[in-house]
Amino acid sequence: MGALTAVNIIKGPQLIAQILIFFFVSARNLFLSRATQHSMDDGEEFRSDPETNRNHGGSMISMIISESHHNTVPSDGMEPEEERECSVQSYTSERDWEMFFVEENGREFNRLNRVYPLPADVEEWGRLADLHTVLKLCLGSLYQAATIVDHVLAAKEGEKKRILDCGCGGGEWAIEMAKKFPHAEVIGVDLAPGPIRDLIPDNCRFEFEDLNEELSHFYGKFDVVHARSCFLGINNYRCFLDRLVRFLKPGGILLLAESPLWLAVPEPGLATDGENLEGQLMQMFRWVEDILQRNGSDIRGINNLRTLVEEHPQLENEEFLVMTVPVGPWMTGRDEYIGGLMRENVMKLAHALGPALLKAGHSLPTINGWIESVEGVLLSPSAKFVSNWIYCSATCVLNAEAGATTEDEEEGEEMARVWSGEEENSPQNRCLACVQRHSIWRPSAEPR
Ligand SMILES: C[S@@+](CC[C@H](N)C(=O)[O-])C[C@H]1O[C@@H](n2cnc3c(N)ncnc32)[C@H](O)[C@@H]1O
Repeated sequence: MGALTAVNIIKGPQLIAQILIFFFVSARNLFLSRATQHSMDDGEEFRSDPETNRNHGGSMISMIISESHHNTVPSDGMEPEEERECSVQSYTSERDWEMFFVEENGREFNRLNRVYPLPADVEEWGRLADLHTVLKLCLGSLYQAATIVDHVLAAKEGEKKRILDCGCGGGEWAIEMAKKFPHAEVIGVDLAPGPIRDLIPDNCRFEFEDLNEELSHFYGKFDVVHARSCFLGINNYRCFLDRLVRFLKPGGILLLAESPLWLAVPEPGLATDGENLEGQLMQMFRWVEDILQRNGSDIRGINNLRTLVEEHPQLENEEFLVMTVPVGPWMTGRDEYIGGLMRENVMKLAHALGPALLKAGHSLPTINGWIESVEGVLLSPSAKFVSNWIYCSATCVLNAEAGATTEDEEEGEEMARVWSGEEENSPQNRCLACVQRHSIWRPSAEPR
């Protein structure tokens, strides 16, 4: 993989994206004539327009912008602004692309949030899809705390189950969850639309929001709130966590997974002084972290993620694990494959960071030098790196002060049994199984 050789180097994927967008807009105009209005009252479908539901037909991406943004595009047949409950959908305007994306230094970026440094384009979505595959392989599941998640999402008469994927990227996790839980409503939230897909399940849709904003229309609506690897676009991780908890219904479960930018070494304690490969790479990523921090990312907000979750007054039943993923093909068997994919991913990440570094005022030769150094270290035959992923899960307290109902109390008791391990397949029992299954599993280590 070569370094950034010119500012406008990545034209191919962009062209493909634009062709796809053209087809998308034309097909969209053909199929969709009405905007979707959604209601978030409990027990009610989000999409209240059956016609649009049918047209959506699992074949088009759903574009919804919250009323908190005033740049909504009016389109034929939509209800007047004041009649909409909270989100509007834009399907008929040619201005959609420009509304969501801006081109900078050869890549496309979201328009909503200037803190998030990574592109939102075909190339980046490909990287995120690979990362999703790797993390799913390593975890052996789509989500941690599977017993609780399955329990919380079990179909229940008269209750609409809802899942929110915050910072959903290309939408892989949200779509897979929608397929796995067809009775649940899944919403993926991100700063801009993801790739155009043929098949999006009817029970899955995407909205575009900045998660640094209040988003109070989501409060208390979700059984599962998931956020994986969002921290680069978050300006205050503590507030972000607080907001995610507010999105949960009482008894709902929060699923977090984050990994710092820098890579670690498999044996902690190896030198990090810049005199060896490990130290060099560490220094290279610290340089970038400082730049991103100055740009507004709460880059170090995830360093004490465990404490933040443990100390949150509305969270209980906390579970933590650190998943150590090899970077580079230095292990054997499945882990060699995973390591190869991860190394490619980190190299693509270095390229993806190029435009943000350029925007921060660094020269093209400096950035190219940095990318080449990262690649050089990662490709070195003696390189042995790992990426540490901290996974946290916790449930939202059933809110005793607000006056829990008998039903809440029964639910609480059942939850306590599941968490305590009394129930077969409780998280503890599952975790042990995971430890055995994954040679690289390190349940007790902290990333820093
Ligand atoms: C590294 S990607 C991870 C995507 C996905 N969660 C996954 O694990 O495959 C981070 C995603 O979070 C989104 N994101 C970051 N900050 C955000 C914010 N403030 N509001 C909404 N989305 C955000 C980015 O646009 C990006 O798609």
